[in-house]
Amino acid sequence: MAGRRRITLDGSLEHWRAHVRELVREGVAPTDVEWVDPLRSPQDGGALFASLEAPRPTPPRDVPPLSLPKALVASLETASCSRSPLVWDALYRVVLRIASGERGLMDDPLDEDTVRLARLEKDVRRDAHKMHAFVRFRRIADESARNGERFVAWYRPSHIIVRREASFFRRRFPSMDWSILTPDGCVHWDGKAVKHSPGVERDAAPSGDELEELWCTYYASIFNPARVKVAAMTAEMPRKFWDTLPETAQIPELLADVPRRLQEMAQNSRRNAESAAPFVPPRNDVDALAEALSSCEGCELHRNGTRPVAGEGPVDAAIALLGEQPGDVEEQAGRPFVGPAGEELDRALSGVGLERDALYVTNAVKHFRHRVTVGPRGKRRLHARPTVEHVSRCQPWLDAEMRAVRPLALVCLGVTASRAVFGPTFRGPIADEPPVVRSSRYARATIATFHPAAVLRARSEEDSGAVRAHIASALALAAAVVRGAPVRFGAPPPAPDAS
Ligand code: URA
Repeated sequence: MAGRRRITLDGSLEHWRAHVRELVREGVAPTDVEWVDPLRSPQDGGALFASLEAPRPTPPRDVPPLSLPKALVASLETASCSRSPLVWDALYRVVLRIASGERGLMDDPLDEDTVRLARLEKDVRRDAHKMHAFVRFRRIADESARNGERFVAWYRPSHIIVRREASFFRRRFPSMDWSILTPDGCVHWDGKAVKHSPGVERDAAPSGDELEELWCTYYASIFNPARVKVAAMTAEMPRKFWDTLPETAQIPELLADVPRRLQEMAQNSRRNAESAAPFVPPRNDVDALAEALSSCEGCELHRNGTRPVAGEGPVDAAIALLGEQPGDVEEQAGRPFVGPAGEELDRALSGVGLERDALYVTNAVKHFRHRVTVGPRGKRRLHARPTVEHVSRCQPWLDAEMRAVRPLALVCLGVTASRAVFGPTFRGPIADEPPVVRSSRYARATIATFHPAAVLRARSEEDSGAVRAHIASALALAAAVVRGAPVRFGAPPPAPDAS
């Protein structure tokens, strides 16, 4: 067997890719490769473009390209911007396995290699998001620019993202000439093309101008004292960014006024609440949430004489179930799914071997929307479907519950629950199409199925059988995800309809 290969890269995905073709063709194990990348070694970070312009250390031979799924190529491109010294090894592991026949690897959310790739991607995306928020341009006179002025920013990203993010700034600021200077490299836009130049250190960026004053006024006007937590603030806006942000000089002054503004805001926001948000406590603790829920006035349903029903179940539940809203029985008992639909749900759960007590069960809307009828049997409260607005006003509770529980799998029972997760244009489950596993903001594996009440409403045995079977497969899929069994991920939900 040949010894360990030491491959020196120039820091670019293209160069790594050229080597990978050769390594894959020869079936070289990841443990037999040592990737050396001066850009990503702890001692020698910096100067991406300078290094890209240097001759390539070991030009690989001409080997035909690999055929990889498009989604994987996109993931590799994003993850490759990571500054982690382990990035090339992580990418090679996934590519080798897929090229060796594990075509479904990316659909397995629990595989160690896909998890690592997803984490690298996530770090890069988070850094890009920060760059979008924290790059501050300053105006300087520049005769070569279109209007005689150029907007210049200096920024230090955590990852090597400046090339990748140039297109974001080009789309955002197409009509001004701008330059973003970073230690890794610089990008410049002149209305026609994005150009690149070697990286620079901080003193190349201009300072002090009227743009800064304008920005500070704007920042003070949007400063939200309700969101001030110094620890959170430094996490979001790490100190390393502070020297590039003129508005941070105002923070002590703004902080001093926080208690008075907070009190004023709390009064106003509860009085004119447009959603449940002002009632949701900041702590991610399901007991605190359940307690605070009782005083929610986030929509008009609190005036209909019912009490809200909180979610229930262990905070570390691996599976969460999401229903529509409590029914009559649930409202009286103060617990979700304990009426006729709950009995149907319990049957479905035991059919697939799931213990209800191990699950977190909640609803998209926490109050019982109903209409009252008066008939021979007296007054009755009949179910009325909550509107999109009820769902969206109640969403802060669901957001907080999901942040607290962080389920591995979430099963949406019915159209209202599915739309609360996938958006109001999601078409919901279809009886003769098997349930699909999709990613959502609440759980990597999210599955939409029918509401158990649909079994009770079905017009024929055949229909109720189809609905039961759909619910059972959705629950079985969730159980498979939790067991770590391979599950196929389906298409993402369709984009919201613009009409
Ligand atoms: N239907 C639901 O959607 N949720 C319940 O809690 C009860 C019935």
